[in-house]
Order: sequence, then C-alpha cells, then structure tokens
Amino acid sequence: MKKVLLLNGPNLALLGTREPEIYGRTTLADIVETVKAAAKTKGIEVDAFQSDVEGELVAAIGRSRGAYDAIIINPAAYTHTSVAIHDAIKASGVPTVEVHLSNVYAREGYRHGSLTAGVCVGQICGFGPAGYLLALEALSRDR
Ligand code: DQA
Repeated sequence: MKKVLLLNGPNLALLGTREPEIYGRTTLADIVETVKAAAKTKGIEVDAFQSDVEGELVAAIGRSRGAYDAIIINPAAYTHTSVAIHDAIKASGVPTVEVHLSNVYAREGYRHGSLTAGVCVGQICGFGPAGYLLALEALSRDR
C-alpha cells in the first residue's frame, strides 16, 4: 500500500470546538498531521480532503480509482443518509475503512444505521482520533 486518501465529511472542519464533550478537542489539522506522520513511517503517502458537500465527497471517491490503494473516510452525518457515497465507494472498488470519532451506537437511534459501512472493509468507531490510526494500521495488514 503506497497511497491513501483520507476523507472527512460535513462539520468535521469544526473539530476542536464542535461539541468537545463528544468529539474531543483535537482539530482536524492535528488528526491529518498525525495520520500523515504515522503513514510516513510505513512508507505510505496520505492526501487529505474535507468537505461539507456530499457531491464533492462523491467526486473525490470517484477519482480515487487507480490513484489510491485505500480510503479512510469519516462520512460524518452522510453516513446515515447517503446512498450516493455508498454507491461511490462500491463503484470505486478501492478498499475503504469507515471511521467515527464517537461511538455512534451509544448515541441517538438515527446514528445507529450506516449506509456506507456495508461497502467498506470495516468500521472503527468510538476511539476518538486514534480511530484514524487504527484504520491505517488495519489497512496496512494482509487480509
Ligand atoms: C461522526 C458521527 C456522526 O453521527 C456525526 O454526524 C458526525 C461525526 C463521528 O465521527 O463520530 O458528524 O461521524
């Protein structure tokens, strides 16, 4: 594995100040830097992209085929609503891991369903920013 695309969905640019009791105080910039540094030690290059716009995430996933070996995505609220992101991940054929900072299963019922996890290799949730590093580790192992 040489290149990983790190995607973050709506409202995740606000990490650090957004509901810190749920999402902690680590900023998205810190998360991206930490993932890039960890990846570098494994000889993996990471490109990161955040968008609040569903179609921009769909387009980024669409461009990933042939360009990236894996995707790590926190689709945020789109997890629970987006057939388009589900379809994009499936169509790309790129092995994808879904990450959530919070334990979505311990929260409101509308967060218990994921339209995207079923087309991912797996899902990691509830471990805060460490979830992104766990996803990187999981993807870099033989399956
Ligand atoms: C989230 C969980 C989602 O339910 C929520 O809409 C988010 C963040 C998480 O990382 O815990 O925006 O994906």
